[in-house]
Amino acid sequence: MWIKQHPFSSIRWKILATFLVIIGVSFAITAALLTGLVSSTLYQQRTRQASLSAERLATSAAPFFASAQTAPLLESLTTAAGELDGRILLLSPDGKVQLDTYGLLEGTGLTLPVMTQVLTGSDPYAYGIYPVGDGSDYAAISAARMTHHGETMGVLLLSTPVTELRTAIVTMEKQLITVFAAVAGAALVAALIFSLTLTRPVKALTSTIRRMGKGDLSARVHIRSSGEMQELADSYNAMAERIENFDRSRSQFVSNASHELKTPLTAMKLLLECMIEQPDMPQPLRLEFMQDMNHEIDRLSGVITDLLTLTKMDSQEGPLHLSELDLSLLTQDTLHTLTPVAAKAGLTLSASIAPGVRITGDATKLGSIIYNLTDNAIKYTPGGGEIRVALSVRGKDALLTVQDNGIGIPPEEQAHVFDRFYRVDKARSRATGGTGLGLSIVRQMVQLHGGDITLTSTPGEGSVFTVTLPMRKEGD
Ligand SMILES: Nc1ncnc2c1ncn2[C@@H]1O[C@H](COP(=O)(O)OP(=O)(O)O)[C@@H](O)[C@H]1O
Ligand SMILES: [Mg+2]
Repeated sequence: MWIKQHPFSSIRWKILATFLVIIGVSFAITAALLTGLVSSTLYQQRTRQASLSAERLATSAAPFFASAQTAPLLESLTTAAGELDGRILLLSPDGKVQLDTYGLLEGTGLTLPVMTQVLTGSDPYAYGIYPVGDGSDYAAISAARMTHHGETMGVLLLSTPVTELRTAIVTMEKQLITVFAAVAGAALVAALIFSLTLTRPVKALTSTIRRMGKGDLSARVHIRSSGEMQELADSYNAMAERIENFDRSRSQFVSNASHELKTPLTAMKLLLECMIEQPDMPQPLRLEFMQDMNHEIDRLSGVITDLLTLTKMDSQEGPLHLSELDLSLLTQDTLHTLTPVAAKAGLTLSASIAPGVRITGDATKLGSIIYNLTDNAIKYTPGGGEIRVALSVRGKDALLTVQDNGIGIPPEEQAHVFDRFYRVDKARSRATGGTGLGLSIVRQMVQLHGGDITLTSTPGEGSVFTVTLPMRKEGD
């Protein structure tokens, strides 16, 4: 049922991979640019120094070279080469080595691009970097043209090792890699923490949803987070709360309804058994029993009618049959049918109805609201009492008040009288044929019309039910 995630498809791994790729790429670019820049600067600096030395040496060596005074020349050049930590070669224009401070190459011929450059080119100096020995080491070679009295005498080559330069660059590269490893490690830890803080609430939410899905409606998410995650968890918990409440009230409703249906059945069964056991029961008693049974059937039928009304509204099966109607007339008509009931109970029913209050609504349901409230007022007001029904307009709303000076409702019960099957005095309500569903039906009908119902009551003094109904449906 639950889709198993591939371990690397989780948010955490995605975040880690993204972090690493970004850091790796930016670091590689930075490192390449940095080493390139540093090494070229170092090499340039070195070759510029070497070229200057070569130029100076060539100028001082030229006269001696011209006069073939090799012995003093060799001596001074060897000293100079030692100071520069290099090697000096003097070559004739044809490329033959005439003098080598290492004393190794005299007499041999050499061709290096830098030589050709200074002998044939306009620039008297040139330099280049060449591999030496087995090719693993490099030397920077500066060439300078030797001229005497305007005549080209030959070329001076100054060779200096670049090993230390290369070592410096390699060291720098190593250091860069170390720094990269450190930064990548730190980023990894940061990404791990970040992804944990991100995925932990998601995981908590997922496992809670699973528990809820398996039927544990009391499951809630507890996360310590901020921002969107906390908002998500809070919204989820609020939703779970509603579902749990809904579930609780539903099972309560079912048990209440069963009880309400069972009570009249039990009463009827008792009456019937009595009649069966006493076949020679006196006729007047038999008649009374049968009247009682008839009364219980009425009750049963009343409960079922109310239940059907409620479930219809719950399932949205009975939507509002809206029409533009005259609420004043509707109120008058409804009160008309109740006047004899009130009179029979010894009550006065007076009405103060503003004429021509027009409203968009469901005629049957609005009539039912007025009927139920007035019926209650009649039922819960002792003989001699007075019931006043008023209809007026306040702003965009129609205002219906049903007031009585009856038994009233204790403050602690007032919040519950709109609950299904709730009755303040069960015995009294039963005696008057109440089901305890009337007010919950009324409230639901008022809410369907976009209205509101409130109650103010004082025990022993009476109650006022106030219904506010918008005269036009929203959006009209
Ligand atoms: N006008 C009123 N005066 C006093 N108590 C009332 C009044 N209207 C309703 N009640 C109380 O609220 C309870 C719920 O009312 P309702 O849902 O209409 O059920 P019932 O079927 O008992 O009339 C009643 O049982 C009664 O205790
Ligand atoms: Mg009622």
